[in-house]
Amino acid sequence: MNTSTVHAPIAPTAPTALTMRRGDPPVEAAIGGTRHAGTPEVVLDVRGLSVSYGDRVAVRGVDLRIARNQVTAVIGPSGCGKSTFLRSLNRMNDLVPACRVDGSVTFHGIDLYDPGVDPVEVRRRIGMVFQKPNPFPKSIYRNVAYGLKLAGIRDDLDGRVERALRQAGLWDEVAHRLGASALSLSGGQQQRLCIARALAVEPEVLLMDEPCSALDPIATAHIEELMSELARRLTIVIVTHNMQQAARASDRTAFFTTEVGADGLRTGVLVEVDATDHVFGNPADERTMHYVTGRFG
Ligand SMILES: Nc1ncnc2c1ncn2[C@@H]1O[C@H](COP(=O)(O)OP(=O)(O)OP(=O)(O)O)[C@@H](O)[C@H]1O
Ligand SMILES: [Mg+2]
Repeated sequence: MNTSTVHAPIAPTAPTALTMRRGDPPVEAAIGGTRHAGTPEVVLDVRGLSVSYGDRVAVRGVDLRIARNQVTAVIGPSGCGKSTFLRSLNRMNDLVPACRVDGSVTFHGIDLYDPGVDPVEVRRRIGMVFQKPNPFPKSIYRNVAYGLKLAGIRDDLDGRVERALRQAGLWDEVAHRLGASALSLSGGQQQRLCIARALAVEPEVLLMDEPCSALDPIATAHIEELMSELARRLTIVIVTHNMQQAARASDRTAFFTTEVGADGLRTGVLVEVDATDHVFGNPADERTMHYVTGRFG
């Protein structure tokens, strides 16, 4: 069986002078970026990444480049390490006990795991939205303002909250009741609120772990439209179990699967990453073919 990863090339770019220490100004390029027609710029460069929980390796040997202003979908069977991989992109795994990350993840050429890098700042620049909408039991306004206050941003809170809610496509539905509890919103609205909360601190990258799995088709369509809108300025990595969603909403797709070692232990590996059309229409690896055509397992 072919166990090597198939890659379509993305040309790396020169690192910027970015450092990731608390209090740095945001990356200017993050805010004014546009979708490139030519070769995309690499924002996150993952090399030889392995993540373990205790002595169990959950995912190993991942080499993957995430291109700017693109939506990258991460697909694969349950337990193959998609969430583990995603969390390693903004050091969210630091918060998981006994989790160890080997290999490197660089963000504009800066090693995210360098001891001098502030993980809180990393998570501000590389935001995350989870599977289940998780608004705080506070008002709609305070949910969005939360991250801003945490980041010490105090100027123009009203303007920032409004902008984030507009970007998340929620403003028109909540403008008249910003003081109402976030828990009074529908599931789809709550998820867009969580997206607004993540956007308020102006991240450059948004990681989304199955953001639509608790939503109905209309709310899902809304989030997909939003992703394509957001990708004009941001870079998005989305984990999804929904093949149609990956095919519709992403530019590139990474397929992960689980390999069973001689010791019987299961480890996640990246099989293939390429333009989404390719992965779905003409994948290079037959495991990908089986998965995307529903013949997995
Ligand atoms: N906090 C944790 N502690 C120990 N093991 C974990 C932890 N989180 C995940 N794992 C293990 O790591 C492996 C990969 O899990 P992960 O959640 O990344 O998979 P996934 O591809 O996101 O699955 P799903 O599609 O079901 O969400 C699994 O074997 C899982 O049991
Ligand atoms: Mg998961």
